[in-house]
Amino acid sequence: MDKNAAPESGRLISQPISDTSALVLLWCGEEIYLSDAVRQYAGMLDLTAGRELLARCHAVWEKYDRVIRYRKLCIAREAKAILQAGEIRQVVIPGAGYSMLGIELANQFPGLKVFEIDSSGMRKKRGMVARLAFAAGSSLECLEGDVEDHAGLRNILSDAGWDAGAPTLTIVEGLSYYLSRESALGGWRNLAEGSRVIFEYLVPYSQVNPQRRDIPRLVFEEIMRYCSFTREFSFWSEEEVRREPGFAMERCYTLEGIEESLGESLGSGQRIFPVRGDGWIEIAVLKSGEERVDQDRRPDVHLFMH
Ligand SMILES: C[S@@+](CC[C@H](N)C(=O)[O-])C[C@H]1O[C@@H](n2cnc3c(N)ncnc32)[C@H](O)[C@@H]1O
Repeated sequence: MDKNAAPESGRLISQPISDTSALVLLWCGEEIYLSDAVRQYAGMLDLTAGRELLARCHAVWEKYDRVIRYRKLCIAREAKAILQAGEIRQVVIPGAGYSMLGIELANQFPGLKVFEIDSSGMRKKRGMVARLAFAAGSSLECLEGDVEDHAGLRNILSDAGWDAGAPTLTIVEGLSYYLSRESALGGWRNLAEGSRVIFEYLVPYSQVNPQRRDIPRLVFEEIMRYCSFTREFSFWSEEEVRREPGFAMERCYTLEGIEESLGESLGSGQRIFPVRGDGWIEIAVLKSGEERVDQDRRPDVHLFMH
């Protein structure tokens, strides 16, 4: 069967989705992905739930969509490059929500196993994915679970067919700031040799240019207020990510560097992130399983509170 053909039966019904997932997709939707599967999936989504939050964030800074666009383009590019090397045949995406990345990767890499886990919405997403034309020949699991419960998470993944003994690509996107520092990375330390983690993180506001640092602070305050999120956020500097035991950093991308590599700018040619301090999220590519870490060598959990 042509994996990009239209489904034989069933009208594609719009699904209302939860607020932050919808917000991210409203900021940056299917335009950055290449597969027909993503376009077909995008047609099923009803993003109404994110519109009010989008308007509130837009009022803080109307260019915020660029942050999400650069993050998503960088992560998709890295993930595809890592998978093209051919050594990794399974991908785990914690906190995937309604993101399109897993669908894109499962569609573009035949035989790849993709495991998405989120605390909510996965049953609904599973239903949508099952109606995609490529689904029959693919392996994309939408699993429900708490990614902070590392032991439970391993069980859920193993039951779904994840092979703990084989290298894995883990993609932590749009998630680390909502978790404790240990929860965000700790579960991915001792993976099989050759594993990689693409890790997106928020840098401490004190490292962002003073003229810019209110933008992430106010946007995240809006999200917290809207979602009644009461926990402290987690932040990392590049040096802190480098020091995380159990990983070796291979690459680190700033919004400045991503913008430059994409050759993008505003219509006037003006750069949005001319220097590193103008941005507040970064993306590290980590090798996991290089240096095995025992439980008692885990770092203390530090939160940078602002
Ligand atoms: C801002 S959305 C990001 C979605 C997607 N990763 C992206 O970048 O487009 C954050 C997602 O993380 C999920 N999440 C947050 N805490 C979680 C937890 N402890 N366990 C599982 N999922 C969690 C939320 O349900 C939500 O879908």
